[in-house]
Amino acid sequence: MTDNPTVLTEGLQKSYGGKRALVGLDLRVDAGTVHGVLGPNGAGKTTAVRILSTLLRPDGGQARVLGLDVVRQADALRARIGLTGQYAAVDERLTGLENLEMFGRLYRLRSRVARARAVELLERFELAESAGRQARTYSGGMRRRLDLAASLIINPAVLFLDEPTTGLDPRSRSAMWRVIADLVRDGTTVLLTTQYLEEADRLAHRISVVDGGRVIARGTPNELKSQVGGDRLDIVVGGDAAEDVQAARAVLARFGSGAATADGETRRVSVPVPGASVLSDVVRGLDELGVPISDVALHRPSLDDVFLAMTGRASAGSETPPARAGGDGRGDTGNPDDRDDRDDRDDRDDRDDKDDRDDKDDKDDKDMVTI
Ligand SMILES: Nc1ncnc2c1ncn2[C@@H]1O[C@H](COP(=O)(O)OP(=O)(O)O)[C@@H](O)[C@H]1O
Ligand SMILES: [Mg+2]
Repeated sequence: MTDNPTVLTEGLQKSYGGKRALVGLDLRVDAGTVHGVLGPNGAGKTTAVRILSTLLRPDGGQARVLGLDVVRQADALRARIGLTGQYAAVDERLTGLENLEMFGRLYRLRSRVARARAVELLERFELAESAGRQARTYSGGMRRRLDLAASLIINPAVLFLDEPTTGLDPRSRSAMWRVIADLVRDGTTVLLTTQYLEEADRLAHRISVVDGGRVIARGTPNELKSQVGGDRLDIVVGGDAAEDVQAARAVLARFGSGAATADGETRRVSVPVPGASVLSDVVRGLDELGVPISDVALHRPSLDDVFLAMTGRASAGSETPPARAGGDGRGDTGNPDDRDDRDDRDDRDDRDDKDDRDDKDDKDDKDMVTI
């Protein structure tokens, strides 16, 4: 930690009409690090990013980026930051090269400099071969890379990435992760919002978990996971005796590192455990009591577990998916339709075609933990 954080917000507030999007958000991002802002749809991530990148004025609280006040010194700040929004800002009708040249010109680079920078970035993001093709022919992953390239035209000291991989297929997602990791290696400070535990885990030095417009937990990925007790042990009790489920719960509570939960209907009993070593103790304990077991599973905590532990309720995205209702949906996808509906209300209505694209791309999300 340093005394001059690159991003510092204190008590940041923002409402849209009567809807409170941020209710006192405190964030701190140290120079040269990746900070993950992790939270479900509607948590306030995009609102925070838009305020920090000077696109939106807060109603209350303070926000400084690179020591500059995001409201009073917005112009000076704009020249030093990059933003990749939740939806691609590229012009579909222009080629990849033309798009980047256009951004260079927007930043008032001389045309020759803008072109040289565009060519360099296209190389760097493995888009050189497609430089002459209209962006509309690009895949989702290529668009995101082009978008990211556009936000790097001026070599920003701080980069804001709003859900940079939502809707990307796994391969494009890994490519994006590599690109982001490279940027940080070169000294860029990155604030990244995501709904994906795996993404935050992979990229972020520190994470702020946001829900309901405020930070509900913060720490390194490992610290957050250890807050929910390391691994999680799930047992499904066999037979149909209700007392067996309660007996199993008592055994799991004895060996677990946190509260054990039991679902009488699915007969699933679950507890955070300090490590795999307790597995044999638990099985022996159940055996001694004659409790039948039909399934045993040990897994890393999902973001659902983090949320459950931190908020005492399931995360927003887990209310509707059928997989969870079936009792085995832990860590499965959230509801992309909710996401699209909600995002439609955002004040980014200049891209009419985004919904088609996102509906399609969301289908690739199934492999990720979505909250
Ligand atoms: N332009 C807007 N008008 C009205 N409500 C909005 C607008 N943008 C966001 N909201 C609401 O503010 C809350 C936070 O939204 P947002 O910052 O987009 O969250 P996230 O990016 O984490 O999904 C949500 O409840 C959302 O519905
Ligand atoms: Mg958002």
